[in-house]
Amino acid sequence: MYIILLGAPGAGKGTQAVTLARELKLVHVATGDLFRQALEQQTELGLQAKEYMEKGVLVPDEITIQMVLERILMPDCDGGAILDGFPRNVNQARALDERLARQSRAIDRVIYIKVAREELISRLGGRWICRQCQAPYHEVNSPPKVAGKCDRCGGELYQRPDDMPETVEKRLEVYFEETALLIDYYTRAGKLVEVAGEGDVAEVSARIVAAVRHAG
Ligand code: AP5
Repeated sequence: MYIILLGAPGAGKGTQAVTLARELKLVHVATGDLFRQALEQQTELGLQAKEYMEKGVLVPDEITIQMVLERILMPDCDGGAILDGFPRNVNQARALDERLARQSRAIDRVIYIKVAREELISRLGGRWICRQCQAPYHEVNSPPKVAGKCDRCGGELYQRPDDMPETVEKRLEVYFEETALLIDYYTRAGKLVEVAGEGDVAEVSARIVAAVRHAG
């Protein structure tokens, strides 16, 4: 099963992907995490992505598409994957459809997590991420048990440089100009289900699991 989590920056894609991956026993593939890990390891890919991520714009398709397609064609994704942060424009969506079709596979369901703009800004402003396992926290909504430390792995928590207010504005602009077009793309393909992304994390998870399970 291949599931896409679609939504604006801060909609909760990363938070929900972790739960959904555990529930459905699928691999979680997050493009932003792949880029950040590459940067942490100072690879060429990471350094290339850095300049775009810092500005809040999309990393060029020729870099991103190859990286993601290589990842989802690895054996651990044979049973499917949850895609978080990819595709992000129509070109990426077409490349994904074409590549999966060559393996007689297809995207099964696209979950569009809808959250109001003011809520997105508040979530990103208070977010802390684990440097080791990438688990997201929020200083008010979901604080760690010990300040500055990840509950799961004990890793150090940090604030993403692209969560600064000016970069968040740019990321939202890019989302509405490029990524939101995918709502129409996947609606026409009969694959999109809209889920309300506000409320308790557990409530949103339950809505998403129900939307995936009842996928026809
Ligand atoms: P990426 O890392 O993918 O960032 P994003 O899409 O902007 O999404 P976020 O990680 O900011 O938000 P999220 O929806 O995962 O929310 P989260 O669960 O963390 O991409 C970063 C950059 O990489 C891009 O700008 C681009 O440069 C590049 N990139 C990535 N993919 C690319 C692609 N395909 N093509 C080209 N470039 C690409 O939650 C946010 C906060 O809210 C957390 O603090 C969380 O604890 C809290 N929260 C979550 N759910 C709730 C809830 N229900 N109630 C209250 N708080 C909640």
